[in-house]
Amino acid sequence: MLRTHTCGELNKTHVGETVTLCGWVDSYRDHGGGLFVDLRDRYGLTQVVFNPPDTSPVEIEASKQLRAEYVVKVTGKVAERPEGMANPKLATGEVEVRVTRLELLNKSKTPTVSPSSAKQDLPGEDLRLQYRYLDLRRPEMQRVLMLRDRVVKGMRDFFADHDFIDVETPCLGRSTPEGARDYLVPSRVHPGHFYALPQSPQLYKQILMIAGYDRYVQVARCFRDEDLRADRQPEFTQLDVEMSFVDADDVMGEIDGLCQKLAKQELGLDLQLPLPRMTYDEAMLRFGHDAPDLRFGLEIVDCSDLATKSDFGVFKSVVKSGGFVRAITVKKGTEQYSRRGIDGLTEFVQGLGAKGLAWFRCEEDGKLGSTIAKFFSDELLAEFAERLGAEPGDLVLFSAADWDMTCKVLHALRTKIGREMKLYDPQAMHFSWVVEFPMFAQDEETGHWAAMHHPFTAPLDDHVPLLATDPGKCRAKAYDLVINGSEAGGGTIRIHDADVQSQVFGLLGIDAETARDRFGFLLDALQYGAPPHGGIALGIDRWVMLFGRLESIRDCIAFPKTQKATDLMTEAPGTVDAKQLKELSIKTNL
Ligand code: AMO
Ligand code: AMP
Repeated sequence: MLRTHTCGELNKTHVGETVTLCGWVDSYRDHGGGLFVDLRDRYGLTQVVFNPPDTSPVEIEASKQLRAEYVVKVTGKVAERPEGMANPKLATGEVEVRVTRLELLNKSKTPTVSPSSAKQDLPGEDLRLQYRYLDLRRPEMQRVLMLRDRVVKGMRDFFADHDFIDVETPCLGRSTPEGARDYLVPSRVHPGHFYALPQSPQLYKQILMIAGYDRYVQVARCFRDEDLRADRQPEFTQLDVEMSFVDADDVMGEIDGLCQKLAKQELGLDLQLPLPRMTYDEAMLRFGHDAPDLRFGLEIVDCSDLATKSDFGVFKSVVKSGGFVRAITVKKGTEQYSRRGIDGLTEFVQGLGAKGLAWFRCEEDGKLGSTIAKFFSDELLAEFAERLGAEPGDLVLFSAADWDMTCKVLHALRTKIGREMKLYDPQAMHFSWVVEFPMFAQDEETGHWAAMHHPFTAPLDDHVPLLATDPGKCRAKAYDLVINGSEAGGGTIRIHDADVQSQVFGLLGIDAETARDRFGFLLDALQYGAPPHGGIALGIDRWVMLFGRLESIRDCIAFPKTQKATDLMTEAPGTVDAKQLKELSIKTNL
């Protein structure tokens, strides 16, 4: 090594030692007599001083060339900083290195992204992504990538300790059933044929169960060509797990243990096990969402029955046509939301497709008041107040619409108000399960059924008959892990019965020929002694985002893609030359 110590290592115990450090010039200050440089590497910062008499005039002259992000090697003696000059915020803050020898290892152009910048002084994200190597020098990025390293190592160790074995599966394969659009790779050897990059290792891990590797784990890269959001990337990483001879409780039990370990390790949190569980139906009823943020209350209350007793046309007609009138009661909401504030909330829900936002405020005397109060008798208002638990100062917000729209609107309001009214500690972390998802979702226009998870998901045992009679009511052996309102993982017990599988394919409109074409190898394998099995995949990027309390998934990935799925540093995707296209028998039509 060119150095004897790192820039995060020296303290008072090293005083008097001659050391050599290598690193980047984080900042430099010329104090007339000499130069003070903060030298940085990924371990920390150390102050190095070019001052006579320790530093010779020649070296002092050389030090004047130093600029931000120059790479240097310095040798000198560790000294205690003078009285009052210690920096308690820095691990090395009690000492400095008095330089006797400076070696310039490399120069740097003026950095476009300054690694020593405070967050608010950083340039826009596009520039940070273009010059990612400078951005990654920032201590905050280093903190996150080291967190990511510990989380992944913690996961691997946990599963290794529990007898899981790590098996790699191919990236060049057939299309998998996760339901997003595939990334395709053309085959040179087989013109007109394509590999699909895996949306997950789903089919391979099921095959591994059939092959007898009954506890499998993999840190797997997944590819999905879908519209990107703050918590989605086209290329992301799963901690992928599959187990044989298990039911849903066994899979959730393993993940409970993992959550407990990592919450303790990274957050100092003692999770009580088992983690709380709620069915999908209950989650939609109480929170309007299948990944509810349980750090705060603000639960939904159904008032459809009361609504029909009023003379308010909107409420009556919605319920009459099979819809619902549901509400949330915002405690002390009138303080936060004036009439103008309520107008703002109304515009917000209209942006989501709602027709409007009816509201009541609870007056000092406990009565509900509103522009629509005239449509309600005093007794009915009192019934509403009681049902809604409304007390003076509270604000009640209603959504009257079909079930899905009330869920969408009230979930969005709940999330927005929870944040705006600071109804939870931003440091709090809440882990829970949502279980028993519907097997299918129905397309409103076509009436076609689609798999909620994927077509190999098993129905609850006593719901199998519903496949024939009422598929919409059929619930699955499916479970999602939710952390702070974010889907941090999801899995299911798989179908291992050929009859049930063909019934499900039938419902999904996958005929025998299509099934053979897409999943023939799995269907074959299932006929050679498939054990009962199931598993889960955790979104590692999302875990790091949540554990690191980051706002964007891009901040926990070394080289992420933008919302438009481009890599601004390498400028991928790029064009290729005509020869490459010809070899692949591909003609573009641009
Ligand atoms: P699923 O599709 O639910 O299940 O994915 C599992 C978890 O992966 C994360 N995730 C993503 N993270 C970042 N960007 C994305 N585009 C993205 N998509 C998903 C989420 C999600 O909970 N094969 C099944 C698992 C199984 O059944 O075992 C699967 O992939 O945190
Ligand atoms: P209107 O009768 O359309 O003037 O609406 C009276 C009040 O009811 C206004 O506050 C609207 O925002 C609200 N409103 C209208 N439609 C709905 C709806 N579908 N759900 C909830 N509130 C609504």
